[in-house]
Amino acid sequence: MEVVKTIKDVRAAVLSARADGKTIGIVPTMGALHAGHISLIDRAVADCDFVVISIFVNPTQFGPNEDFDKYPCDLDADAVICEKAGADIIFAPSASEMYPSQNSTWVDVDGITDHLCGASRAGHFRGVTTVCTKLFNVVCPDQAFFGQKDAQQAIVIKRMVADLNMPLEIVVCPTVRQQDGLALSSRNKYLSDAERKDALLISKALKACDKAIVGGEYDAEKLVALMKSIIRGGAVDIEYLSIVDTRTLENVSEIEGQVLVAIAARVGKTRLIDNIFVDLNK
Ligand code: PAJ
Repeated sequence: MEVVKTIKDVRAAVLSARADGKTIGIVPTMGALHAGHISLIDRAVADCDFVVISIFVNPTQFGPNEDFDKYPCDLDADAVICEKAGADIIFAPSASEMYPSQNSTWVDVDGITDHLCGASRAGHFRGVTTVCTKLFNVVCPDQAFFGQKDAQQAIVIKRMVADLNMPLEIVVCPTVRQQDGLALSSRNKYLSDAERKDALLISKALKACDKAIVGGEYDAEKLVALMKSIIRGGAVDIEYLSIVDTRTLENVSEIEGQVLVAIAARVGKTRLIDNIFVDLNK
């Protein structure tokens, strides 16, 4: 497996794979790879002939008071993981390779980026959609793989690809959790033992919500109250706890069709997100 740092080199590798008749998959990441990322790589390796893993801590999606400077980073460890998972190439560009000059062109998805994480992280999704567009233009993949863990991100990227007729398919893979339910995240590294215990209340609340819905409770206000009562058992500062329509990302009052139950919360200084997808049509 190769590790390349320039657009020219990754394009040459993809071009050569295409010339051999191979299909191309990309897994966009910011590195610090864990089993959640590996599940995306596994799916990409199963579905595509040539798999590119991009590792780039994208500065344009971080706000001024966010953790860009201390975002965990270990390219050597990530390379071992990618190679073991069967990826073909890592594309790990520098910031100046991806943004050689002041960026004047941005990709903005309206409306659905105003809710949930978009409400408190101004400019975040503009950074995500812009860097993903650049990665898609550099690699020209047939498929790109994203995690349900970042549900709003996956929905926004899907909308962008549909709206701009981008010639690729977005594949969304299930959230990988630790045995006790905590969703894997590169930011879990920041949690102390006590904070990790409190963080568990987030997935517990989501599980209780799922169970209540299965039991016939469709009143969103009551479900939100149930989840808040569970989370209040620990030192967890809720940023949002919402039950939203999966197309508009607007709050629903009654559960019907497909809804997303999404939580963002701070445990100590660490911001965590988690969600479940509920489909009453099934
Ligand atoms: P990053 O946080 O590194 O995540 C890369 C991909 O891994 C995302 O699609 C994310 O949803 C997925 N992922 C993270 N934790 C997961 C888990 N526990 N289970 C399943 N999938 C999981 O998301 C980003 O990077 C960036 O915003 C990026 C798309 C790379 C653009 O810069």
